[in-house]
Amino acid sequence: MRIIAANDYEDMSKKAAAILMAQVVTKPDSILGLATGSTPIGLYKNLIRWYEEGLVDFSRVRTWNLDEYRGLPRDNDQSYYYFMHENLFDHINLPKEASHVLNGMNPDPEAECASYDAAIDAAGGLDIQLLGLGHDGHIAFNEPQDDFPAGTHCVDLNPITIEANARFFASRDEVPRQAYTMGIGSIMKARRILMVVSGADKAQALKQVIEGPVTPQVPGSILRFHPDVTIVATKDALGATGAK
Ligand code: F6R
Repeated sequence: MRIIAANDYEDMSKKAAAILMAQVVTKPDSILGLATGSTPIGLYKNLIRWYEEGLVDFSRVRTWNLDEYRGLPRDNDQSYYYFMHENLFDHINLPKEASHVLNGMNPDPEAECASYDAAIDAAGGLDIQLLGLGHDGHIAFNEPQDDFPAGTHCVDLNPITIEANARFFASRDEVPRQAYTMGIGSIMKARRILMVVSGADKAQALKQVIEGPVTPQVPGSILRFHPDVTIVATKDALGATGAK
């Protein structure tokens, strides 16, 4: 595990974006696994700027996102499809058919999830997977539980997550109750992992990932068994760990 300390959110975003950019510059047809959430937004802004400055070209890249709410149409501004277009895809020269986000409107979870894993495998597998970290140690929508789910699957969101998301919707009833997510196995198959973590509120979760026992109760802790993980984290997020 390689741990890179950043001074603040801006610094974290720049350092992590540089790693993703180097991946694409050295392998222009890279297969990227991408994430939503608030943490990667600054990273995506840097990629957009460097694309506009001619430093990086996405014309041969293909992307697969980690997760999507089930039952939310793609034009809903809370869907991860919408998020990715707004924060990255609409601003770079990634071909339209090259980005993949799970289809939350597919009523058949098994078919949606199995075809997603198969498509990633057929493309040659992920060169690098970008991850954020949840306060409870979750990665993608893999919450603390008794085992490490292998492939892409459908999850019931826990009540805390539904409550936390309610502020983004007109009413609590509109908050999706389920999501499609890559499994821990799908994530661990990526050749490289890049995790971004920002803020003192993530310090305990990050300490568990870096120093605690490897357990499905802290899903991110599984990364300690991956041979090529880079974590770019702000100093306050690293504050509870031995790495400063
Ligand atoms: C996003 C995802 C989530 C987030 C995590 C952290 O696609 O799968 O696991 O990475 O919830 O979210 P933020 O960055 O908003 O703190």
